[in-house]
Amino acid sequence: MKLANRNLVTIDDLSNEEMEALFSLADEMAGSIDAQYGLCRGKIMASLFFEPSTRTRLSFEAAMLRLGGRVISTVDVGATSLAKGESIADMARVVGSYADIIVIRHPWEGAARVVADYAGVPVINAGDGGHEHPTQTLCDLYTIRKERHSLERLRIALWGDLKHGRTIHSLIYALARFGASVLFCPGPGLELPEHVLRRLSTEYKGELKRCRNVDQVPERKLFPIDAVYITPSSPHQLAMLPDVSVRVELKAGVDALYVTRFQKERHVPTVEQQELKKKYPVVDKELLKGKEFAKTLVMHPLPRVDELACEVDSDPRSMYFKQAAHGIPVRMALIAILLGSREVVISRESRSFAQKMDYPVYRRDSGVKCCNRNCVSNQETETKYMKPEFRIVNNAPLTLRCIYCEHELHPGYVASADWHQGKLENKKYHSADSRWARKIKPENLIVFASEDEAQAQQFKPSNYVK
Ligand code: CP
Repeated sequence: MKLANRNLVTIDDLSNEEMEALFSLADEMAGSIDAQYGLCRGKIMASLFFEPSTRTRLSFEAAMLRLGGRVISTVDVGATSLAKGESIADMARVVGSYADIIVIRHPWEGAARVVADYAGVPVINAGDGGHEHPTQTLCDLYTIRKERHSLERLRIALWGDLKHGRTIHSLIYALARFGASVLFCPGPGLELPEHVLRRLSTEYKGELKRCRNVDQVPERKLFPIDAVYITPSSPHQLAMLPDVSVRVELKAGVDALYVTRFQKERHVPTVEQQELKKKYPVVDKELLKGKEFAKTLVMHPLPRVDELACEVDSDPRSMYFKQAAHGIPVRMALIAILLGSREVVISRESRSFAQKMDYPVYRRDSGVKCCNRNCVSNQETETKYMKPEFRIVNNAPLTLRCIYCEHELHPGYVASADWHQGKLENKKYHSADSRWARKIKPENLIVFASEDEAQAQQFKPSNYVK
């Protein structure tokens, strides 16, 4: 299997075996950085960062320079023609004709997918809103692999803003694919989005347990609120286990505690937001005294603010500056592979715990829009050429997942395209949760956000409308 000319938009664009091969190449490059100069001679990387970045942008650019390639870059939407109303698709086409590879960070979720669809050269997602940040996950896994010598069946605790942390979302999917047990420890109101949990329990065959902090003593609170725990065991079902305590789940120890900051740029500034920020959990020496953390790697994608005390920096368990430094060999390996400057040997054996799902796609003009206001498919400059597009991931309840940002929605009303066959009297719509609605084949499905919308398209209510 070749990796040249592929995109890296989500972490699922790389198989476990491809990641392992990339890490082996990163090891080789880390041991001979200077010898790699010239590998990408004559190649140009466009570095488009429309959100602040220190690590990702500078390590990508340094990686390309160390490979002997060149870099063109922009760090401000206001300095590009996007500020004049140009679409991302047009920008992608143009930049794809100037550069051999594009690295993009953008605040809109799904923006990197659009760039990949239009650029005609490999595109790397360096962070799209709160959606994904796959190359940070590569740096994280590479760090764990170096320290633990394996990525299989790890025990990881994820800490902080699990709702908006894009690094968290990419990392969870990768960890689940390597069979990790993951304990989610969100700040108050910052729990993992439901659509991410649902994916973990379906595609990644995780068993989800909700844990209560039943055994906490006030003077040493381990976690601020209830946590969710996922293991790779079957059967995969969401189980409420009120008597399972966080401490019991941690008894076997934790390989890594992955801390994230409060993602203030993804919140609307309000009094409530300030309150959430005040209650944000902090990792410090006191917390790390616990037996369960004796051999724990303390990880953070950085930048940190107040959630990780500086006193931890001198602790041998702290890994965050190593994670950032590993950005160079990991991104050198990635650029070289995607440009076809280096090939890697990939084993055919699949060791993933995830199941590839082949969901039918919904892409009709009529119907619903993505429910996520920050999704690229909802932006004025993009709606001129782009239709909302969804995967039909469940029938009961009917669930559509946006192909750009992966938020899920549940349309209220449906009709079938083959039943009305041009006959107006047959144009009937049904409640999406009715027995009748479930008989509609995916290729015939028409969805409506409301009855008004169905009626505006000349559909009449059937007997299956509640
Ligand atoms: N970890 C990370 O993405 O850092 P930057 O925002 O500085 O690139």
